Amino acid sequence: MIRFVTTNEGKFQEVFDKLLGHGIRIERVDRAYPEIQADSLEKIVRFGATELDDQVPGDYLIDDSGLFVDALGGFPGPYSSYAFKRLGCAGILKLLAGVPRRSASFLTVFLLRKGGEHHTFRGEVPGTIADGERGKGGFGFDPIFLPEGETRTFAEMSVTEKNRHSHRGRAADELLRFLVRSQP
Ligand code: IMP
Repeated sequence: MIRFVTTNEGKFQEVFDKLLGHGIRIERVDRAYPEIQADSLEKIVRFGATELDDQVPGDYLIDDSGLFVDALGGFPGPYSSYAFKRLGCAGILKLLAGVPRRSASFLTVFLLRKGGEHHTFRGEVPGTIADGERGKGGFGFDPIFLPEGETRTFAEMSVTEKNRHSHRGRAADELLRFLVRSQP
């Protein structure tokens, strides 16, 4: 059994839904762990794991994600958690007011500890920042992010639909491939 250590119910729902579709059930551990300010998501999950290794028994998963806005030089990126708390979706829209270049991407990095070893998986999705907030689903920056090729924001999609397009869904695909490969 893999324990997904996260205080974010939305992240858990998405990964639970995705893995259950492949016959793998995960459990949530609702606890916070230190998230350092660093210039990459990999560094953030690796630091988190040094804290959790002694505290969580068995196999566990953590997720760090970020929204990278091209016209803002990739901001907020690894600082997304802070930026969401301070600026929210409205603040990002304000920073982009009158800016025609709306391209952005979402990135998730998972760290899985399995059999005592750390493995990381990435998932990325290109897209654009909408002109306003749309939709009631999801969490975080979902109401302002349109994945490439879609006319709906993540917040206008069900969990299963978001998983089909999202950074986290893609990271979960990588994780699934690894789990299938490492089955005895
Ligand atoms: P965290 O550090 O991975 O928890 O995420 C950084 C910030 O990005 C959080 O405050 C979330 O609001 C936001 N975020 C993370 N994943 C997503 C997502 O899938 N959709 C929208 N916002 C997200």
